[in-house]
Amino acid sequence: MLDERKPCLRGRGLTKVFGLGRSKTVAVDHVDFDFKEGEVISIVGESGSGKTTLAKMLLGLINPTEGEIYFQGKRRDISSNRKRKAYWKQIQAIFQDPFASYNIFNKIDSVLLDCINMIGGKRLPHEKKVEMMAEACGFVNLKYEELTNKYPFELSGGQQQRLMLARVFILKPKILVADEPTSMIDACSRATILDMLMQLRSEGGMTPIFITHDIGLAYYVSDTVYIMEKGRFVESGSADDVILKPQEPYTKRLISDVPKIYEEWDLSTV
Ligand SMILES: Nc1ncnc2c1ncn2[C@@H]1O[C@H](COP(=O)(O)OP(=O)(O)OP(=O)(O)O)[C@@H](O)[C@H]1O
Ligand SMILES: [Mg+2]
Repeated sequence: MLDERKPCLRGRGLTKVFGLGRSKTVAVDHVDFDFKEGEVISIVGESGSGKTTLAKMLLGLINPTEGEIYFQGKRRDISSNRKRKAYWKQIQAIFQDPFASYNIFNKIDSVLLDCINMIGGKRLPHEKKVEMMAEACGFVNLKYEELTNKYPFELSGGQQQRLMLARVFILKPKILVADEPTSMIDACSRATILDMLMQLRSEGGMTPIFITHDIGLAYYVSDTVYIMEKGRFVESGSADDVILKPQEPYTKRLISDVPKIYEEWDLSTV
């Protein structure tokens, strides 16, 4: 069934090596993957396994040392500024540290105005832009009127992450890479944010890629799970297969670190 979906992102032999000689780190080591449109994907692995490095290659923020990325069936070409900008309209990210994602000298409305400009709305009347910004804030339960004169660093961690989602709401990318989107916020905001992401997926056909340590989260949200160890994918497949019937010792260990999965799983079988 999944195989009938259109290809979205494909990687072949994707590799990233940092440094030279003795200080060489193979952060990502010849990984292959086929992400399909609309499929919910999780990449799970311990700290240092190469998840963020892979995400940065997908986003075109760093160049692979080796290997190829295909986007919508064609070899990805981001060799010029124009092509890179066109690519970034289609793929967006929510990063581990929301503070690092904003220019701290830009007020919140300019963060959102930038998005409207990016989708070609530069010449829209001001009222229309305000309407779009207010709608995006409304979607993530932020009040636009209370935010216009603030800077992103004046928001709480949860509000900052929701502001990032408001950007996503305006940009409507094809792919959203969420690198630990929920690590710094409480359980309640976490559920809300996941909910919003899943809503954007069902309404906008967005393909979300979750990058996380949390195999429990991966189980609940994803269709397909990739398990990453020392830069390699050691196991992948449907969430049920990988997490309920793990084959690799590494996957088994990740699961045994999270007793929560079993508790919730037991509940559902009662
Ligand atoms: N710019 C860099 N220069 C040198 N080494 C790097 C660089 N970025 C990452 N690495 C190394 O690559 C490896 C993978 O790092 P990466 O950040 O991708 O891990 P991660 O899976 O995202 O970890 P975490 O779960 O802690 O975020 C690590 O050994 C790291 O030290
Ligand atoms: Mg990381």
